[in-house]
Amino acid sequence: MERAKQIAGEAVANLVENNQVIGLGTGSTIVYTIKMLETRIKKEKLKFLAVPTSSCTKILAIKAGIPLTSLEEYPELDIAIDGADEVDPKLNLIKGKGAALTQEKIVASAAKQFFVAIDESKLVKCLGQNYSLPIEVLPCAWRAVERKMERMNGKPVLRLISETARPVITDNGNFILDVDFGLIKNPKQLEQKLDAIPGIIETGLFVGMTTAVYVGTKKNKIKVLKNNLEIS
Ligand code: A5P
Repeated sequence: MERAKQIAGEAVANLVENNQVIGLGTGSTIVYTIKMLETRIKKEKLKFLAVPTSSCTKILAIKAGIPLTSLEEYPELDIAIDGADEVDPKLNLIKGKGAALTQEKIVASAAKQFFVAIDESKLVKCLGQNYSLPIEVLPCAWRAVERKMERMNGKPVLRLISETARPVITDNGNFILDVDFGLIKNPKQLEQKLDAIPGIIETGLFVGMTTAVYVGTKKNKIKVLKNNLEIS
């Protein structure tokens, strides 16, 4: 699947046009996007500015010679590009395996169009099929939120760094609870319920935000999914 991931990451890099301001996502798929953007800057003299969604992407982009900016300077973006952990048939997403979900969601919501790059293993019939839902919580609230998740029939697990067993700390100084809700049949409703809970900063549910998904297939082809349809 690594090659499928690579071609998807590269395909979304080719969506970037001269003089755009883009949102640049986080994760191993976006690493290929960054490499392709580096190549396009060198070969085509492509000019654009990028808002990174994490400290990790910021470092990679600096190394790749990608000029950076911020949402403070550009509160509206032309496009945002990012990976995902799961994509359902309505192009709703679970994101957050890399703990960058809050900035990813803010950046995606600031963009006129939001493009997602995945390999085909990420396509699911229903969100929650393979992944728990990452939720960013204020450190002082994690136990209280954990209790509330259990009352909602979720199984929350505080995300830890495996080597040290310390909590993962996000770029915003918060913790991540990975909550197994089973199959998420109504992502919008779940998102609204979670958003109302004090202490929850953001969830990894991206509902109704995606413009199109670029899927790298096992046969090393690109499929583009838009509005519930495969358009190429
Ligand atoms: C980062 O917090 C995540 O939302 C990633 O965008 C997502 O997990 C996809 O990552 P990979 O491209 O590494 O699968």
